[in-house]
Amino acid sequence: MKGQSAAGGAGRGGSGTPGRRTLLGAAAAGAAALGVQATTPAAAAGAPAARRGHGGSYRDLPRPTVIAHRGASGYRPEHTIAAYQLALDMGAHVVEQDLVPTRDGHLVCRHENDITGTTDVADRPGFASRRTTKTVDGDRLTGWFTEDFTLAELKTLRTRERIPGVRPKNTLYDGRWTIPTFEEVLRWAEREGRRRGRPVWLHVETKHPTYFRGLGLGLEEPLARLLRRYGRDRRDAPVFLQSFEPGSIRRLAGLVSPPRVVLLGAAGTRPWDFVEAGDPRTVADLIRPDGLRWIASFAQGIGPTLDLVIPKDANGRLGEPTTLVRDAHRRGLLVHPYTLRNENAFLPADFRRDYGTAPVVAANEYGDVFGAYRRYFATGIDGIFTDHPDTGLLAAAEATG
Ligand code: G3P
Ligand code: CA
Repeated sequence: MKGQSAAGGAGRGGSGTPGRRTLLGAAAAGAAALGVQATTPAAAAGAPAARRGHGGSYRDLPRPTVIAHRGASGYRPEHTIAAYQLALDMGAHVVEQDLVPTRDGHLVCRHENDITGTTDVADRPGFASRRTTKTVDGDRLTGWFTEDFTLAELKTLRTRERIPGVRPKNTLYDGRWTIPTFEEVLRWAEREGRRRGRPVWLHVETKHPTYFRGLGLGLEEPLARLLRRYGRDRRDAPVFLQSFEPGSIRRLAGLVSPPRVVLLGAAGTRPWDFVEAGDPRTVADLIRPDGLRWIASFAQGIGPTLDLVIPKDANGRLGEPTTLVRDAHRRGLLVHPYTLRNENAFLPADFRRDYGTAPVVAANEYGDVFGAYRRYFATGIDGIFTDHPDTGLLAAAEATG
């Protein structure tokens, strides 16, 4: 969906990201750009559910559920096994993956197919000729794209911090890891599940599904095959399937049975599959009672941008909650909004803190994120995506008293 990456908060390729000590106005442009349980060996030894990939009902997950957005991406380059591992070690209830395909049809974990900002591809002379300009979901983009690389070629690249201006410390880890395939993640989850004696929950998003289907690289069928191969295709499998395109969720519903979540961007936007099909409905239509009833006919939840739960005023301060959480719950839909981050750059204006740096508020410093969590959790949301799962878990523990 046009504009979804802005809602996601990190923009693409790190372009336009704020410097380390920038005004929050610049940071806004960049933005557009515990309860840890010990695992005993005995528990790990007897873990049939984890081995078989059964997670029980998603309704039995702790609430609010803390979903590690792209892993613990506040601390490690996103969508690396290291980011996923840290999230799990911090105690995250669920770990998120975004999926895009390679030229030879493998699913890899990247927030977008443009890998310019999250890998070292621009520094590889051998791939210089692959730089190109494309239109993806209505956005004109220049860079390097996963669908132009085989998996073997992609595996020669190294991952990088997306927003070094906001997260300079994470650049310590630049160059250490490769892009994971989704199959590697499934194996990692299986291993970690056995070791911990309980399943590792995943939250898996199909990215740009209509665009990729047009290239002959449909995402849903290979995703379903992998879920079947690793025993995660059943209704009680420890995995959520999510997409900004309802059509992708409906297609998945015909292939496999895990719980499904329709992502919702800003109210005025339209899912890209609606744009392609000439369906005039906007997100504003989908969050009305009829729209939610329609979603509930093929999905178990919604993943709205936080602004649909509590809108901001003209000054960027939190206003009054909408009725979305109540309306969704009335139709049996759980609500997993995105994305709360610790840094001032991403917080509502009334939760930013200057820590003595006024009049310049440091974009990369942490604000009063616990205050923001209190406001969002008070709405009754079932879970939340966050780049900082350790903070989210503390806030969730506070909320549940
Ligand atoms: O999938 C939930 C959240 O991650 C949606 O935003 O753009 O970060 O994938 P994005
Ligand atoms: Ca996502």
